Amino acid sequence: MLEAAGGSAALEAKTERPVEKKVFVKTYGCQMNVYDSQRMTDALAAEGYRPTESIEEADLVLLNTCHIREKAAEKVYSELGRIRQIKDERAKQGRETVIGVAGCVAQAEGREILRRAPAVDLVIGPQTYHRLPAVLRRARAGDKVVETDYAIEDKFEHLPAPARKAVRSRGVTAFLTVQEGCDKFCTFCVVPYTRGAEVSRPVSQIVAEAERLAEAGVREVTLLGQNVNAWHGEGPDGREWGLGRLLFRLAEIPGLDRLRYTTSHPRDMDDALIAAHRDLDKLMPYLHLPVQAGSDRILKAMNRRHTAADYLRLIERIRAARPDIAMSGDFIVGFPGETEEDFQDTMRIVRAVGYAQAFSFKYSPRPGTPGAEMEDQVPDAVKDDRLQRLQALLTEQSQAFAQSLVGRTIDVLLEKPGRHPGQLVGRSPWLQPVVADERAGTVGDIVRVRITHAGPNSLLSEPASGPAEMTKSLKGAHV
Ligand code: 5AD
Ligand code: SF4
Repeated sequence: MLEAAGGSAALEAKTERPVEKKVFVKTYGCQMNVYDSQRMTDALAAEGYRPTESIEEADLVLLNTCHIREKAAEKVYSELGRIRQIKDERAKQGRETVIGVAGCVAQAEGREILRRAPAVDLVIGPQTYHRLPAVLRRARAGDKVVETDYAIEDKFEHLPAPARKAVRSRGVTAFLTVQEGCDKFCTFCVVPYTRGAEVSRPVSQIVAEAERLAEAGVREVTLLGQNVNAWHGEGPDGREWGLGRLLFRLAEIPGLDRLRYTTSHPRDMDDALIAAHRDLDKLMPYLHLPVQAGSDRILKAMNRRHTAADYLRLIERIRAARPDIAMSGDFIVGFPGETEEDFQDTMRIVRAVGYAQAFSFKYSPRPGTPGAEMEDQVPDAVKDDRLQRLQALLTEQSQAFAQSLVGRTIDVLLEKPGRHPGQLVGRSPWLQPVVADERAGTVGDIVRVRITHAGPNSLLSEPASGPAEMTKSLKGAHV
């Protein structure tokens, strides 16, 4: 129509309108990468890039990568091989494709990525995402750009706020980064090198973002940080706040009815945070508190700076404050020097705690970390065997926990349509997926249901009324 109308005004309008481009973002690793990918997508939207699910039609392919274990890092290079072929195909049709690598592999390997994968056009570290539009313009002009050197405060200062429309499309739960980086230097871990020193986001920024999320319909927010419970900041009252106090402030925001946080270090679980678990109904009774190993000798070699007994005492205090809390954790098997006896200590601590959910990994030596240099690396076959035994125990525990909920009435936040017509899927307070009847409510509602069946990956339910039995002790669920 515009063209038919002719005239110079119409022509000008045509040339000024930005041509819509498409971006395909692939996210590896932790929830913080998910959050960062969303912020990058928001920043790119302002540049005229719309997200696409199809890599073939993408003008910009962005891999947001993970460096935590070797497997995760190597996956990036095989994916880049595949993307190079797509780039070549598109080039034959005269279409440009910019390939970008973001995340922890970008930070750790920088220019080396360009050497191993020359089709890559830009490499951008996690502290630098606010500069992505400028970096992209340089890459499109033909430069190979490596941008990994910025103060993290800049990122927090300049990252775009979540766009209301984008938030709506992402559903009723959201992540919110409050802290980034780590000063703990566990000897197996690359995070202190890739994400840098611990930095806390200011209270005002966090509250503003949480309010924005709530206004866009978000009901549940998970606060993120590599060491989230090390978060601290100056409150509006001029006092030093810790995570516990921050959670109380966020609980005042209308519409935000569920709060979670992850990931925590045992040494930073202070009294105020434990009190928040006791006093704050909106804080969900679920805590991801990795211990990594059960042997004091290995914990020392890992530089965890606590013993197995310290950890168990801490859990006792947390459970005294919030009897229905479900524990989650991370474990590493086959750390250098780990004997069968050390491994049995890990099995013992798992039995003593009783985990509702847990993640377990084979130790993977990471370049530049002290663990990679240690003698007595454990053979892969031994790691495999230990991982299998540990995972069998952890699965048994999570299934026993799920089973203990059958017949109980619980509150579920409905998140999305289920696989079958008439079904919705939501989350229990303990983060399990729950399949609900759509007569129970609509997406965004927190509804009361009775658990009828515990499957391996989700719970089934029927609508219920009356009070949820939230404060029952879950100790009986332990294996
Ligand atoms: N090898 C295996 N697992 C690791 N993790 C961190 N570094 C390594 C490594 N080098 C695990 C820890 C951590 C989780 C995010 O990943 O259990 O808590
Ligand atoms: Fe890594 Fe330890 Fe820091 Fe967690 S606390 S990010 S495991 S160094």
